[in-house]
Amino acid sequence: MGSCRQIAQQLVAPGKGVLAADESIATMSSRLEKAGVEATPENRRRYRELLATTPGLADSASGIIFADETLRQTFADGSPFARAVHSLGVLPGIKVDTGAKPCPGLPGETVTEGLDGLSARLAEYAEIGAAFAKWRAVHVITDALPSAGALRSNANALARYAAACQEAGIVPIVEPEVLMDGAHPIDRCAEVTAAAHAAVREELALLGVDLAGIVLKPNMVIEGRDHAGTTSPERVAEATVEVLRAWPDELAGVAFLSGGQPPERATANLEAMQHHRTPWPLTFSFGRALVDPALAAWHGDPALVGAGQAALAERVAANAAAVRRSHTEFVAGTPTAVGV
Ligand code: 13P
Repeated sequence: MGSCRQIAQQLVAPGKGVLAADESIATMSSRLEKAGVEATPENRRRYRELLATTPGLADSASGIIFADETLRQTFADGSPFARAVHSLGVLPGIKVDTGAKPCPGLPGETVTEGLDGLSARLAEYAEIGAAFAKWRAVHVITDALPSAGALRSNANALARYAAACQEAGIVPIVEPEVLMDGAHPIDRCAEVTAAAHAAVREELALLGVDLAGIVLKPNMVIEGRDHAGTTSPERVAEATVEVLRAWPDELAGVAFLSGGQPPERATANLEAMQHHRTPWPLTFSFGRALVDPALAAWHGDPALVGAGQAALAERVAANAAAVRRSHTEFVAGTPTAVGV
């Protein structure tokens, strides 16, 4: 448990966030194809190596989340991903859920699977070198959904996953995502996000999960993608922090997903969060908001690896700069940086 607390602290260390590069084979393949890159294991490997070897990444990223396929691959020089990333100063993580699947009994909703055999898989991932893990539950917003059954089922699975991780000495990133799909206003997202978090807190408590040894990965509280108008960063931050206040002080930290927001908007919202004094750090664990520009710049061309890395470095540095502010003027109350 002690080491989980330490690793969780490292993941949310001042001025750092987590890079989510753990797209499933299917999702990664379709993103590569859209960028004009053939979807082969080798191209997925090349892309992940490009991300992981971005110069200076360790200054702004505490960890990288990979999918199972990547963790079993090697850099071009033959060193296994987990070991290679670790030696670059970044903690390797692993997505251990097997995806959101239609939930029997709940039409239109999903439950995230992957609990069968999880303890054995975690032991193997620990052996390979994974320091932390991720499990993502997904909720849609409609007038009637999510149902209480979907909230409860996903929260229970997240808690069982988190307890298994801590037993294996791996830090669980607990991700109850409420999707941006739909035309709902921000208040509806706040209501659903609060309900999802309440269910997760209850289930984590029932299984004795140590909150100081987990990182919460929530969506920002934000209007639906099809809602008219764009909520200001200040309002997104206020609504998000208000929902998060229900979490106890001992929670190690909060690392947001980007959820399909344009990269610059995700950064502006993250920066606005830092104006709020909270007992836990508020940082990023973005996927698309970090890697989309890199994939677009590289698009499979070996001559453009540097351009892809520059695009990633720019986004990671912008988000790290945003969260660094919390340790300077906003929280510490002084322009002298703490731990950065
Ligand atoms: P996005 O930031 O693209 O939402 O991805 C984060 C993630 O890890 C989703 O599980």
